[in-house]
Amino acid sequence: MSPIPNFSTRLIQWQKQHGRNHLPWQVKDPYSVWLSEIMLQQTQVATVLDYYPRFLNRFPNVGTLSDAAEDDVLSLWAGLGYYSRARNLHKAAKQVVGQFGGEFPQTRQELETLCGVGRSTAAAISAFAFNQRETILDGNVKRVLCRVFALDGNPQDKKFENRLWQLAESLMPSENHDMPAYTQGLMDLGATVCKRSNPLCRQCPMSDICEAKKQNRIAELPRKKTAAEVQTLPLYWLIVRDRQGRILLHKRPAKGIWGGLYCVPCFENLDGLHQAARNLNLDSDGLTEQAAFTHRLTHRLLMITPFTADERPSENFSDSLWVAQESLADYGLPKPLLNYLNQAQSSLF
Ligand code: ADE
Repeated sequence: MSPIPNFSTRLIQWQKQHGRNHLPWQVKDPYSVWLSEIMLQQTQVATVLDYYPRFLNRFPNVGTLSDAAEDDVLSLWAGLGYYSRARNLHKAAKQVVGQFGGEFPQTRQELETLCGVGRSTAAAISAFAFNQRETILDGNVKRVLCRVFALDGNPQDKKFENRLWQLAESLMPSENHDMPAYTQGLMDLGATVCKRSNPLCRQCPMSDICEAKKQNRIAELPRKKTAAEVQTLPLYWLIVRDRQGRILLHKRPAKGIWGGLYCVPCFENLDGLHQAARNLNLDSDGLTEQAAFTHRLTHRLLMITPFTADERPSENFSDSLWVAQESLADYGLPKPLLNYLNQAQSSLF
């Protein structure tokens, strides 16, 4: 694979004319850039455009985020998914304050020491905020490179990935000041033109040098990942209201699905559900099974069966939180739970 000498020039020119140039995180403040890159790791631009200003308004700099309570960070994150990102964000803010005196480090290597910041994210922050010559390599960029250079390696293979890193490094522009437009160009090309299906080759600045196009192999490259089986996981929700109509919530353990979020008691089997009902002094025969529904996560399909308790306990349990229907949205509940409780409110109890 021989690097194309004018790859970066073409990309920079194209980005300036046809790329996305009005995104709110296209600024030099490293905190704003870092926040956007973490939000954009697994979330579409359109969704991030909604959450990003709210988050930045509430936590305008690394100091305010570092001082925040984790629950406040999680509740602003609710609905974005992948909550480990929010917990890592909070930890990383504390690292910046504690280890770097409140100033973001500028090198990719130092940025990589922050919780939740991998090589590609660190490269993006250092290129956007500090004009560093560091290349990104996310899924979109891998697709662009596999097509332009007609590489048909296995995307899950480490060796092949290392080859892609080397190629990406060899393609960077020589001038530091070109790094933001170049990096944005890689992202824009992958997201808006060199799309996985129905790529817009006629709009592509690389179309006349694209090897996959020349070889008529656009649809076949990059090679598909072996379809990982999507595992189905049963979950049982225990929905209990007290005499005032408030709903019982628990904080989920940090690890696993919806880690750290408030949720109704939630179990992977019926034994757990019945045991929890007994611990609440509820008659486990007095649980009503509601219609099950599915909820798709990236690697798993949840089959959720809610159970409602017929009784309304009056006792207060010390590790429990009882929350009124109208305040549920303040607690950063998992999205499917909030939707369910809002929809089910009138019909269930
Ligand atoms: N995806 C990841 N980072 C991005 C950015 N800075 N702009 C648009 N999409 C992105």
